Amino acid sequence: MNYPIEYVRNRFPALKRTYKGKTVVYLDGPGGSQTVVEAINAGRDYMMNGGANLHGAFPTSVETMEKISEAKDYVAALFNGKAEEVAFGGNATTMMFHAARAVAKTWKEGDEILLTELEHHSNIDPWKKEAEDKNVVVKYIPLDTKTLTLDLSSLDHLLTRNTKFVAIGLASNCIGTINDVKTVSDAAKKVGAVVAVDAVHGIPHFYVDREELGIDMLFSSVYKMFGPHVGLAMIKKELFDQLEPYKIMPAPDYTPDKLEIGTQNHEGIVGVTEAVRFISDLGKGNTLQEKIISGYDAIENYEASLAKFVRKELGKIKELTLYQAEESVKKTPTVAFRVEGITPNEFTSRMCEEASVFIADGHFYAYRLAEKLGIVESGSFIRAGISVYNTMDEMKRFVAGVQDIIKNK
Ligand SMILES: Cc1ncc(COP(=O)(O)O)c(C=O)c1O
Repeated sequence: MNYPIEYVRNRFPALKRTYKGKTVVYLDGPGGSQTVVEAINAGRDYMMNGGANLHGAFPTSVETMEKISEAKDYVAALFNGKAEEVAFGGNATTMMFHAARAVAKTWKEGDEILLTELEHHSNIDPWKKEAEDKNVVVKYIPLDTKTLTLDLSSLDHLLTRNTKFVAIGLASNCIGTINDVKTVSDAAKKVGAVVAVDAVHGIPHFYVDREELGIDMLFSSVYKMFGPHVGLAMIKKELFDQLEPYKIMPAPDYTPDKLEIGTQNHEGIVGVTEAVRFISDLGKGNTLQEKIISGYDAIENYEASLAKFVRKELGKIKELTLYQAEESVKKTPTVAFRVEGITPNEFTSRMCEEASVFIADGHFYAYRLAEKLGIVESGSFIRAGISVYNTMDEMKRFVAGVQDIIKNK
């Protein structure tokens, strides 16, 4: 099936924006994607038609509860989980921070947790802070700076019978490497550890089957996936029921609401449904889940063709260093690089001013990666994050922009 790029682009009003007389090329999806029009309208309609708090006997309250419940159904289908395992919140970091306090309640001195060196710090610091408070040992699956993948060769030694918890990301938000979550979760299960996964950089690009990957706790953010700024957590029911989050009265005692403190962002949550529906509308099938899986297939194939072109063209430029794992390693269409003789920040400013290409620079909180590569002091990376709405023409504009800047350094 041909990817319906015109249909997709028409769903994103922000793509009409111009800068310096040219249509903007958005290449900062990993920092936050553009928002699909149905999600924008859903939030607006919610407020225009009358919003309300929960548990009222009047229509706007009843409708609010129905809409939140629908959003949870969609998230359940998105990850092959259950609606009663889904909690919403501000963003992924807040959800992890909050969940960390709860999951760490049973940790004690001498216990161990295992993290990785290829994480966004969101998926390190919440767990690490709890570990420090409890004198729990923190270990890391090392990043191999040559292969730009996690080195799993010592996994069996890193995991011991004291390991209580393992956290890993689906994919690097900086270099795109997709981690072998299944191997790590299988090994973690053997020692009885809880497995938490940061799905933030995965969900705009590929289907995530929570069951298949053996994930106990999953965290993500909908603004990276064509929707509004809403964070989410999906936690296996048995584990969720046992967790005792630090909560205050405006949160009930039961799963999953006990992780939702205070009144939620209702106008954002209604957009979550639309963000998932956007993906399912790109696919075929009889059930929502089948459509989501098929929609992700279409997205993956399309994005891979754009990323292949970009990686190949950038690879030809001798002044440019690409940071990417070898071809056999699965990657999201997120490309990190540096250019000799120009800082990443100068480079991205010029891309914006001279080519109207919006592209970001820095370490993107994949700090350990940048630190191990020794490039933090010199500005870390330039990152091109390709998304569902980008076109081959935009990729050509981007590559031409890179070549022009290098020619006129
Ligand atoms: C891989 C990854 N994890 C976590 C986060 C943090 O997500 P949030 O901004 O929703 O807290 C980000 C944000 O850039 C990310 O890319």
